[in-house]
Amino acid sequence: VSFLDANPDPPFDVSRASQVELTASDLAETKRFYSEVLGLVVSDEDPDTLYLRGVEERGHHSFVFRRSDSAPVCERVGMRLRGVGALEKAERHFAAAGYDCRRVESAHQGGTLHLEDPAGIRLELCESMDKQPRLNTRVELHRGAACLRLDHYQIHVPDPVAAAEFYAQLGFRVSDYYAIPGADHVVGIFMHRKGSPYDIVLFEREGPRLHHVGLIVTDLQSILKACDVAGNLGYGDAIEFGPGRHALGHGYYCYLRDPDGHRIELLPPPIELIDTEDTPVRWELKGRFTESWGLPPQQSWFTEATPFRGVDVVPAPASDGPLTLERYLSARGSRV
Ligand SMILES: [Fe+2]
Repeated sequence: VSFLDANPDPPFDVSRASQVELTASDLAETKRFYSEVLGLVVSDEDPDTLYLRGVEERGHHSFVFRRSDSAPVCERVGMRLRGVGALEKAERHFAAAGYDCRRVESAHQGGTLHLEDPAGIRLELCESMDKQPRLNTRVELHRGAACLRLDHYQIHVPDPVAAAEFYAQLGFRVSDYYAIPGADHVVGIFMHRKGSPYDIVLFEREGPRLHHVGLIVTDLQSILKACDVAGNLGYGDAIEFGPGRHALGHGYYCYLRDPDGHRIELLPPPIELIDTEDTPVRWELKGRFTESWGLPPQQSWFTEATPFRGVDVVPAPASDGPLTLERYLSARGSRV
């Protein structure tokens, strides 16, 4: 049975999830964490802005941090467009559909469009970026995990199916989705344009809020290197969950919180899903599904996420609540 069929003829061509813009209270601290622990490279900086990219990336930035004394927010998540006239096509499409979409000047980017999707996710669509040298073979410069590139972002929304319809219309294909056993209740949807399992992942929790940004590393050893560096530099508590392996899904993970609490996932290169007859896979949520082994995530992993600037957070439907580390240990303790 198919689920949320991708529009085979989308109004314009999104190539991938490509960048995020976040606020930070102390850019020097943000720079230290992202460059020493994660190994991102500084493309540009000024007293109020920090631009970072992965060592494999030629595009100018996959992270923009703006200095702010207010509570941390996500300004927007960004996607890249592909093809001649894609930005104009996108602009016409959203204007005709009644969206408030604005063309903006954005430093180090070509044509850029801002809008809010129906779920309240603040989006940036960008047709090009200034180019920087690719540093994947400059191993003498690599630090920490030497993250290669931005892969995906996961966003919590109260109604993931409704939120996913917008992206299916734009040609995003579902790789996997998670459902409550025996019920027609879908709680997690993994969608992509680029031919790997994820560009945007939508999960049922209060939102819209940015849960994490996924960065690709070369291998598991790179994840351990990040953890070792984090420990030695005083960021041991920043390692929130993992390293571990997802029971459902496609790989290993480690989740870290940056100095402002924004969450980063490190993961090795995922599988590829290029053939269009590779239809969505439904997974029933029973038993362990977040982690294949070891301890479940602490409660913060389920409940804390970054809101979007100026967007109201809407509660999710009531549920039994996930198996947190706290519940797991308390249940185990009561059996002793
Ligand atoms: Fe992820």
